[in-house]
This record gives sequence, C-alpha cells and structure tokens, in this order.
Amino acid sequence: MKRMILLAAVLLSNMAAAQTVINTKNTSLVIDASETQVPRLVYYGTRLAESDLASLSSAGFGSTAVYPVHNDASTSLEALSVRMPDGNLSTDQRVASVVTDSWEGGATVRIACKDPKYPLEVTLVFKSYEDQDVISTWTEIRNSGKKKGIVLTRFDSGCLPIRQGDVWVTSFGGSWAGEMTVNCQPLGPGVRSIFNKDGVRNTQTSHAEVMISLDGKPRELTGRVIGAALCYSGNYELRFETGDTRYSSIHRFFAGIDPSNSNYTLAAGETFVTPELAYSFSTEGLSGVSRNFHSWGRKYKLAHGGVVNDILLNSWEGVYFDINEAGMHQMMRDIADMGGELFVMDDGWFGDKYPRNDDHTSLGDWVVDRRKLPGGVEDLVAEAAKDGIKFGIWIEPEMTNSRSELFEAHPDWVINAPGRELVQGRGDTQLVLDLSNPAVQDFVFGVFDGIMSKWPQIAYIKWDANMDIPSQGSQYLSNQEHLYIEYHRGLARVLDRIRAKYPDVAVQACASGGGRVNWGFLPWFDEFWTSDNTDALQRIFIQWNTSYFFPAEAMAAHIGASPNHTTGREIPLKFRIDVAMSARLGLELQPSAMSAEEKALCKSAIADYKGIREIVQLGDLYRIVSPYDGKGLCTKLYATPCKDKAVFFWYRTVYFNGEPVAASLLAGLDPEKNYRITELNRVGSPLSFEGKVFSGRFLMEQGLDIPSGNTAPGPHRDYASHVLCLTAE
Ligand code: GLA
Repeated sequence: MKRMILLAAVLLSNMAAAQTVINTKNTSLVIDASETQVPRLVYYGTRLAESDLASLSSAGFGSTAVYPVHNDASTSLEALSVRMPDGNLSTDQRVASVVTDSWEGGATVRIACKDPKYPLEVTLVFKSYEDQDVISTWTEIRNSGKKKGIVLTRFDSGCLPIRQGDVWVTSFGGSWAGEMTVNCQPLGPGVRSIFNKDGVRNTQTSHAEVMISLDGKPRELTGRVIGAALCYSGNYELRFETGDTRYSSIHRFFAGIDPSNSNYTLAAGETFVTPELAYSFSTEGLSGVSRNFHSWGRKYKLAHGGVVNDILLNSWEGVYFDINEAGMHQMMRDIADMGGELFVMDDGWFGDKYPRNDDHTSLGDWVVDRRKLPGGVEDLVAEAAKDGIKFGIWIEPEMTNSRSELFEAHPDWVINAPGRELVQGRGDTQLVLDLSNPAVQDFVFGVFDGIMSKWPQIAYIKWDANMDIPSQGSQYLSNQEHLYIEYHRGLARVLDRIRAKYPDVAVQACASGGGRVNWGFLPWFDEFWTSDNTDALQRIFIQWNTSYFFPAEAMAAHIGASPNHTTGREIPLKFRIDVAMSARLGLELQPSAMSAEEKALCKSAIADYKGIREIVQLGDLYRIVSPYDGKGLCTKLYATPCKDKAVFFWYRTVYFNGEPVAASLLAGLDPEKNYRITELNRVGSPLSFEGKVFSGRFLMEQGLDIPSGNTAPGPHRDYASHVLCLTAE
C-alpha cells in the first residue's frame, strides 16, 4: 500500500513537472509537454491558482493535441501535414525539450518536438505579454536533413482546442466601401473556414481575427471570450472544426497561412517560421478582449503606437485626380485655418509620358507631373511650412499599369501566370509587381526612398495597394507554389529597409480602403485607411466592427462631404463630425465647397478633438449599445486607464417619430468618482444634465436620459448625435 502511494506521488510529481504554464496578469495557458509525448493543451482561461494547477494535473482534465499533425492517430483536421522526400505523408512530433525564457514583457516558452524517424523538427513557441493578457504562438518548422526537401502541405501557426458548450464565433468580412461586416454564429458540427486568397490585400474580403464567446450569444461587457488574431500580411485560412459524434467534446480552432496553391518546399537545413497567432482571454466580454488587443497593439505592434496621430485633410474625395498647384495651396490653407495639422496630397500628382489623370495609367512612373505642379513637390512642402502644417503624399509602389513607362521597361516584373494573357485590374490596366524578385524589391524601396530623399520634410506617406493577384505566376521564381509567400517576404524586406532608414515618418496602410487591416501589416504602419466609405451612418457600423481588434489610434476616420460619394446620402455636418471624432479624426472633402458656418463648426470640433484625442486614441474602449442591436442606437465610451476622464459617444442610427429611447447606461467609469458632464460640438439647446456632476455608479446604473431625436436646428429630426466629455472632480 505504502509503495502504491509512493508510486502515485512520483507519477503526480512527474506529471506536474511536465506541465508548462504560461501566465499573464489574468490568464493562464497550460500545456502538458511531457518528454517523448505529443504536446497537449490542458487549459486556457482565467489565471489559475497554484492549488488549481496541482489538482488539474492529477485530475486528468481533458487534454488534446495542441498542434495536431497528420497521422497522429486522429481522424480530425491537422495543423501540420507534410510530404517527406520518400513520399511518406505522415509525421510524428514528440516533445524533445522545453525551454522557458523571460523577456521584458513576459515569458517565451519553446517546446521543441522531433519526428523520431524523419529529419523534421517542429518547435512550438508561446510568448506571453503579461500586462496585456495576450499569449501568442507560432511554430518553427525545420528540415534538419542534409539533402532533400520536405514539402509542407499545411503549416498552421497554431491550434486551440476549445471545450464544447454554447460557443459562438464572431468573424468579419466585407470588401471595398463595405468593409468590416460582421457574422456571428454558434459553433455546430462540421468545419467552418474563413480564408483570404487575395494575395495582396488580405482584409479585402474576410479578416484573420475572430472572437470566440464561451458563454452563449456574445455580450460586450460580460462573459468569457477568447480573441484570436493571425498577424500576417498574406493569404490565410482560419478553421473551426466540431466533431459530429457524441464522443467529441471539443471544438478546434486552427489558423495559419493558406496552403492552397502554396505548398512550401522546405530545403535541407531550412527553418520555416509561421506567422504569429495572438490570443487574448477576458471575462469582460467582447470589449474586454478588444481592450487587451488595443493596448497590446499600441505597445508592441503599431508603428509609433501610444503617440497620438495628426488631424489631416486628404485631397482624394475633395478633388480626386484633379491635382493642381493652386488647388493644393488652397486646400492646405483651408485645413491650416481650421486648426488641422497635416495635408495629404492623394493620387494624381505623378506621371510624365503618361499623366495620371485617371486610374488607367502611370503607376510606377513616380515623377512629378510638372504640367499640374510646375513648382514640384518642393513648392508644396514649402507652402505647407508657411501654413504651419505638415505635408504628406500618396503612393502605390507595389503596382504598375500596362500603360506606364515602368511596364514598358520591365514587362517581366509583373505577376501573371506564364503563357497566359495579362489579367489586369483597376482601370483595366493595373498590374501587381512581383515582389519575390529582389530587383523589384529594390525598385519599391527606391520609390519611398526617392521621395523621402528628395523631400525630407514629408511627414506622412499614404501607401496604397489596389489590386489582388488574380493570375498566380512569377517570371522570377522557379517554384510557382512559393509566390504568395515570397511576395510577402519581399514586402516585409522592403518595409524593414524603409523603417530602418525612415523610422519617424508616419505611414498609412491603405488598400482599396480597408484592405490591409491586419496586425501583420501594422508594425510598419502608424494607421490604416478604414474605408473609402465615408458615409457617417455606415461608418458607425464599419468603425464599430473595426474596433473589435484595432484601436482608435490606428483607425483613420474622415469627415466626408454631403451627399456622400459612396452612398449619395445627405448627412448633417454635426453627425459626420461626431462619427469621425470617435477614432483618428481627419477630413476628406473640398473645404472650398463648405460654407463659413460649416468651416467654423469643423474648426471648433478640431479644437475640441485636440482636448480629447488622447482619451480616444489611447484610452480604454467600452462598446455599450451595438448598432446591430436593433435599437436604432449606438453608444460607446473611451476612458483613461485611471478613469479620471472619459468621452461618451451617442448616435441615433434610426429615428422613428416619437419612439422613446432607453436611458443610456455608461460603462468603464469608476463608481466612486464624480464626473462633470459637458457636451462637445453642441448645436442647439443644452441637454438637461449639461454641466452637472454624477457619480460613476449613478451613470453606470441609472444612466442618462438623452432625447430620442435630433433637437439641433435644421430640417433633420434624425441623425441625432452627442459627444459627452466626463471629467472626474
Ligand atoms: C484607393 C484608396 C483611396 C484613394 C484612391 C486613389 O481607392 O482607397 O482612398 O487613395 O485609391 O486612387
């Protein structure tokens, strides 16, 4: 008996020793990484106490392979599948060692696995970001053979088993001018795949982020939620698998590079590093996970994260291709007069043999069109300085047109399947440059470098990309299957070079609007263009969904013209301003078409925004009433981390005459603090609580009564909106 107890104790301590625990401030991820065994996920959720951990190991709490490989005696989907040089399609990955290191923000755990029979080693890496409650994972797949290549036919970044229950998945889709649609469904039997095969703009259709709600239909402020974001700039596939037998007690989530038409031949001695897959767990609902991703992104991912972005005027929706010197001067003067800080000259400024008067020509010919700008960019930069603002410029350096001098000189630089007719995109002439080719990488770097060396005063570059890869084929690569991956390696090389040489310039990621809103791009960029759709009503929805994973600091939101260029809808300026103020405020219209009164309204909004910009761009977001809830309302609040200041946004999205609207409960405040309320951008009579002081508790439990319709002067009872500033006393 004594011997048995002893044996049990030894077993228990062995099991405990094999347990690898990755903690953050509020979460734990536990992996059973016993030597020579398949690594298994034991737990992911709220941070475990030592006592729970000890019991967990002895209780044999359901565990399952954390990186399933093909042929691991399971018939479910796999994260890794390969073809060995002898044609064997199986691998068997067993733990060889576990190494834990710390870094300034948390810990890194490397679980090295090996195939006992073949020279294939897979290291699972987990990195914790302690304060942000983010744990990310990726794999390093190494061919340790001497001669022959191993073909990777599936090579996910990670797999997360999730216990079955009332699990719901929120995912995002959309395309040009209709970005960031939302899809929310319970997980049921079968496989669900979310993928992008655009090649260039990987959020042009679906998105590589999902929210997984564990307590039934997702809620914003309560409930257990796991957020997952694959940080990659290229094609991807996310899969959810739910077994349809009663023996299956888990869902599995997989995420990685999309392997279709993209098998990767791993040469002898080569290591393939998969993209980072970031997870965050919160018990504070969807908004809790969003706050974690926002603070993680600002601290570790975004270029210049944590530094507020400038208020700008972009020329696109104001003049489109009609760029000329006098017009640019006037726009710069106007934005400077309104208190803006930056002017961005968009498309249409370049081209010599082929002037860029529309989207049919000139991409690649990055020379100033002196017919439009006789004084060149140097004149504009000097003029901006005189106006006391910064200057920015638009480029689309990864692209060319078949009607361009670049294409005439280098027809071999474009992507197209060999022997096939050219497949052309925007303007029926656009083509994608083959970034797998080092000569093209030099060219693309040179576009940026050329501009910055000629006009070093340029403070901002809008980097656009308006096409997909419709015809897979490189005239440079010998293995066509590598094109999708090599394109993005080439892009990363170019962007690394740019950032090494120009660390300070602000760069916006634009790709047909919001086609590149992924954490895999953002380390090189300060912000993204959220959408070419600047209709303020639709922007409420687009910005709401974008905020699930991306902070307001990075989300460019511009006041567009009325009627709007995408929808034709007429929306009062006050509403347009209030929507743009809830992210990175800017303008995208022709100021000369505005009345003096409208300019004055913008001027005072810009001044007010400067007072709240830090709270909005760097604060904690609480989404409260979703515009999708059918209440005809949308509310959200940003608070400083110490909750001494907050800004509450209230938008009426549908107004039915006389229909009452429920009291607006606030969230994210300190119940013990007293807040004075002042309205910004007020047009019309003050709200009944203007200037009054309420406790955070009252505001969160009783809320504010805000009139249902618009009380501002003018024809509109709809389009009511309010921006309330709360300051603790
Ligand atoms: C894309 C962008 C726009 C604008 C145009 C210019 O559509 O999304 O904002 O820059 O290109 O051609």
